[in-house]
Amino acid sequence: MLTTSDPPPGFGFAPLQPGMPVFADAVRLFLATWPSEGGVVGITDFFTRYAALPDYHGLVALREGALVGFGFGARSLPGQWWHDRVATQVGVEHPALQDAWTLVDLAVASEVRSRGIGSALMEALLAAQPCPRALLSTEVSNAGARRLYERHGWSYLHPGFAFNPGEQSYVVMRRELASAG
Ligand SMILES: CC(C)(COP(=O)(O)OP(=O)(O)OC[C@H]1O[C@@H](n2cnc3c(N)ncnc32)[C@H](O)[C@@H]1OP(=O)(O)O)[C@@H](O)C(=O)NCCC(=O)NCCS
Repeated sequence: MLTTSDPPPGFGFAPLQPGMPVFADAVRLFLATWPSEGGVVGITDFFTRYAALPDYHGLVALREGALVGFGFGARSLPGQWWHDRVATQVGVEHPALQDAWTLVDLAVASEVRSRGIGSALMEALLAAQPCPRALLSTEVSNAGARRLYERHGWSYLHPGFAFNPGEQSYVVMRRELASAG
């Protein structure tokens, strides 16, 4: 199932780049969504480092100027922490890892979920990047996100492993994009 990359009525999309006022808002939404993942300084640094990677693309969803969602990603390359851990699991030569773009984060504020914002943000991000395929990981336990991704053409590259020993497991999903021809 593919969906529109246009924001639902009443919402708009805008770039997510360091230095913009919405950047700090996106960090705040990240921390509201994943409270145990760190603090403002660490997550700002995480976002900023991704924004410097090849083929970085980030978008925010806005309602009346206020941030209600964001997503971003970048090209997946050897030497990156996430890429190398997935490569260890599936093999560095796996076709899914070649010329792939990683959707790193996608979050929508809880009060505006189930209106199509997350789907449209994802499709807008994928439509704008140059790779023929995409990758992501999400918690094995995140049934809602997995269902959304499955409905949008994502399949499982790995059924679940812990990126950090002793922490929860994540599925790795892949999707071939229309741009692959
Ligand atoms: C996952 C997440 C980004 C989805 O965002 P969203 O804006 O709710 O996504 P959508 O509205 O496009 O789709 C969600 C559901 O709403 C439904 N929906 C979409 N448009 C709709 C509409 N206009 N009316 C009613 N329902 C709609 C979708 O069919 C989907 O149904 P499902 O829950 O049965 O799968 C959001 O739930 C979130 O931020 N979760 C926490 C963070 C997270 O898990 N991120 C993803 C992993 S990194």
